[in-house]
Amino acid sequence: MPIVRPSKVAHVVYRTRRFDQMVRWYETVFQAQVQYRSPALAFLTFDEEHHRFAFVNMAVFQPNGSEEDRQGAIGVDHLGYSYPTLRDLLENYLEWKAQGIEPYWCIHHGITASLYYADPDGNQMEFQVDCLHSAAEASEFMATMFRLNPLGVEFDPREWLEQLRAGAAEETLLVRTTHEPVSPLRGALQKYLEAPV
Ligand SMILES: [Fe+2]
Repeated sequence: MPIVRPSKVAHVVYRTRRFDQMVRWYETVFQAQVQYRSPALAFLTFDEEHHRFAFVNMAVFQPNGSEEDRQGAIGVDHLGYSYPTLRDLLENYLEWKAQGIEPYWCIHHGITASLYYADPDGNQMEFQVDCLHSAAEASEFMATMFRLNPLGVEFDPREWLEQLRAGAAEETLLVRTTHEPVSPLRGALQKYLEAPV
């Protein structure tokens, strides 16, 4: 029998010692709704799925523990979430910024335009918009252009939003016409990686 592949990615569960802060952050950033909450566990969703996130309050499960943040170089680096349009993502950027939530990396990967954020525990995530019209075009871009620049070119989300609000077409920003300068790697990996990618 062939092995059956999963039909979708369903949810992420985080262990935390900043339980209230984490739930609030996901309510704000994802406009997520709390489906169930006790002192020990919380389940949230941002769409029709019963839960997209759960948080385990380690202060309940392991009251004597002390570590607050993600530690070490091994583990998940980030999760990626797609948004329907660049305008949606950049308008969100302003809303989040008004609440003190700022990206640590704004990068045009060529295949996606992406804003990277970290939650209060330091878990990283990428909020992205696809730049190309199909998965095939994106694969072609990776096969040909990643050699020139595997990371991407940084951009100013505020400047892009102003252009869109002034009537610029998303297409003009999403199609990456310049591949320089290659952005440094930002976020948690930065401290581990000295060599070029
Ligand atoms: Fe990513």
